[in-house]
Amino acid sequence: MPPSGTEVPSFSVISGEQVSRVLHGQEKQIVELVDYAYRVHGVGDTVNPPSYFLKFEDRPSARIIALPASVGGEVGVDGIKWISSFPENIESGLPRASAVLILNDRDTGYPFACMESSIISAVRTAASAALAADWLTRERGRPKRVGFIGTGLIARYIHTYLAGTGWEFDEIGIHDLSNEYAAGFENHLKDAGGTGRTVLHDSAESLIRNSDLVVFATVAGTPHVTSPAWFAHNPVVLHVSLRDLGPEVIKASSNFVDDVEHVLKANTSVHLVEQEVGNRYFINGTLHNVMTGMVKIPRDRPVVFSPFGLGVLDLTVAKHVYDELAASDGLHTVDGFFHELSRHGKK
Ligand SMILES: NC(=O)c1ccc[n+]([C@@H]2O[C@H](COP(=O)([O-])OP(=O)(O)OC[C@H]3O[C@@H](n4cnc5c(N)ncnc54)[C@H](O)[C@@H]3O)[C@@H](O)[C@H]2O)c1
Repeated sequence: MPPSGTEVPSFSVISGEQVSRVLHGQEKQIVELVDYAYRVHGVGDTVNPPSYFLKFEDRPSARIIALPASVGGEVGVDGIKWISSFPENIESGLPRASAVLILNDRDTGYPFACMESSIISAVRTAASAALAADWLTRERGRPKRVGFIGTGLIARYIHTYLAGTGWEFDEIGIHDLSNEYAAGFENHLKDAGGTGRTVLHDSAESLIRNSDLVVFATVAGTPHVTSPAWFAHNPVVLHVSLRDLGPEVIKASSNFVDDVEHVLKANTSVHLVEQEVGNRYFINGTLHNVMTGMVKIPRDRPVVFSPFGLGVLDLTVAKHVYDELAASDGLHTVDGFFHELSRHGKK
């Protein structure tokens, strides 16, 4: 149990292996949890301040981001995710991102768990993408041709979450700057055994023109897809990597986001448009607006979802993992982690 009142606070360390074991096969349940977290956030029962980006002059491609948050509703937890992105890691086969997450008790403030969080982060990102794909296509018909631009860990999790929540494809397009990574992703899809024949594309244009659902999961820092003509067939675009699309494409599309204040930062594509046009009218609404029927999805334009990624999602998934481990007696607590437990030094 998390610490409360006069109990001696306990502190658990939760490994990636434990996180992975709990979340394995839970795609539907996690998408429902993420749906719930968006609803709690949408009604204002969360605190989700801006993420803090730690950057380095001597390592310009690297960053470490702090995402503090507090989630109300039935989740009821505070905490922070601390996630680093070192893109060069992948050259040696190591994932780009690594992370820990701390859960804090709402009554005492005591941290009660530290958990590996790159899996939680990938899972909440993929669950959010699958949820958005569902809501954004409900009245447009389910896409049968999906295409992935950028084929790293996040693309893999998004495919797992689409497949795990019932999506079936005729065709899965694949494009990456690296042929090796594209081939690795194709092999993964074959091993995963889902539906759809795989097609490797040697350009983003070819993939986009042949996909009804386009997933961007690259590490592009500036827009490299700038032609609205490539989107003339009005696909739904999950713009998870946030900086691939040029302002012309964003302006020619209907735009949905997870949180307006968050996503209009850090030179995301939508932020570039805001800086250019000086207003936010090009954003049609949040995913929560769509889920609550406040906005409709047009059929006659491309639809772009740009999720900045909210700490409230990380905490919601993390608390679920903690609760599942606690219920199965699977927590590894660190004896004596909190040592100074008497204010005046008496036992
Ligand atoms: N919005 C969110 O909530 C959220 C959450 C997690 C990750 N992300 C983003 O997802 C992205 C992918 O993360 P990852 O861990 O899978 O990274 P990764 O490094 O494992 O994979 C990225 C892949 O993109 C490819 N790539 C880079 N530039 C490209 C381009 N212009 N065209 C085609 N392919 C290109 C690389 O070769 C690589 O294979 C990152 O940008 C990350 O910041 C977003």
